[in-house]
Amino acid sequence: MKYKVPFVGYKLQYQNLKNEIDEAIKRVLSQGDLILREDVENFEKKLADFVGTEYAVALNSGTDALFLSLKATGIGKGDEVITVSHSFIASIAAIVQSGATPILVEVEEDFLMDMDKVEEAITPKTKAIIPVHLNGRACDMEKLMAISERHNLIVIEDAAQALGAKFNEKKVGSFGLTGCFSFYPAKVLGCFGDGGAITTNSLEIAEKIRLLRDHGQKTKTEIICYGWNSRLDNLQAAMLNVKLKYLPEWIKRRREIAKIYNEGLAEIQKIKLSPSPDSNSEHFDVFQNYVLRAEKRDKLFKYLKENGVETLIKDPVPNHWQKGLGLFHFKLPYTEQLAKEVISLPMYPELTEEQVKYTINSIRNFYSN
Ligand SMILES: Cc1ncc(COP(=O)(O)O)c(C=O)c1O
Repeated sequence: MKYKVPFVGYKLQYQNLKNEIDEAIKRVLSQGDLILREDVENFEKKLADFVGTEYAVALNSGTDALFLSLKATGIGKGDEVITVSHSFIASIAAIVQSGATPILVEVEEDFLMDMDKVEEAITPKTKAIIPVHLNGRACDMEKLMAISERHNLIVIEDAAQALGAKFNEKKVGSFGLTGCFSFYPAKVLGCFGDGGAITTNSLEIAEKIRLLRDHGQKTKTEIICYGWNSRLDNLQAAMLNVKLKYLPEWIKRRREIAKIYNEGLAEIQKIKLSPSPDSNSEHFDVFQNYVLRAEKRDKLFKYLKENGVETLIKDPVPNHWQKGLGLFHFKLPYTEQLAKEVISLPMYPELTEEQVKYTINSIRNFYSN
């Protein structure tokens, strides 16, 4: 089906950057620079610079950024790690795959980790907290870092959805021991495939993760430890280097679109909006996603589809209610309620004013009928 307002703008973004991207591909392929070459190193430097950390290590995904962060700190069997259920499953899966036990807590009205609940969930087994900066909005990192210091806990930031987001002027990914980023195509900065990275101020952790991503190989002939293959392709890094230049501009545009959505939808009583982009706020949101809480959510989804607007209901079932994950013992009424109400509208810099207004009008029409 061809939508008037598609949910993602992959093709448009490529068309806009075609010359530069094609040039980068041609250069990398003709040089034969494919694995852990200069483009990866350049990207790591630029990413660390952008986030405001000493180091960045490029990886094959955001999932591995979380998993290898846990592995690098030695977290595993018998340890507890606190995170939220209201996230992409990777935040929880990385904990389980490390051998540790996930402890899931509630979120607040802005869909982010409830810091009071974090403190209540701490036990003698707790080793780390994974706050998730969901939808491009930073968690309250002042509160979280204070909790982690009081209880001597490691903080691994799941910043997969929030490259460029800030809390009190400081970028996500620069608060915790590591920041974990995803470059899945739909992200604010996306690869043409999969990709991820960690950021950190710890040389020890950066070096450990460099080893873990490449089977523990320090040099071609020296293996220090067992690891995994979790490298970012040089080709993807070359394309990310092209795109990273445009990120500030893209974030600005996402915030503009969010403002138009917020203003255009403000009158509708039956929906609850995302927090508005506000320059006085301690949160600087990058609007990875624009999410609503909507009455009659499933009917709204269908109506928008019929009218050419592609939206997404990502988690109609909360993660802790998914069969096969063994998480049914968590009781998280607010998270469970959100699963019935949340819907994501199209959000990417290439959206036209006309498309945003069309989406707003379609939602207005749905609720006025
Ligand atoms: C909050 C969150 N954490 C982790 C991930 C995992 O990233 P990736 O898909 O690159 O493995 C994602 C990706 O969608 C995410 O949204």
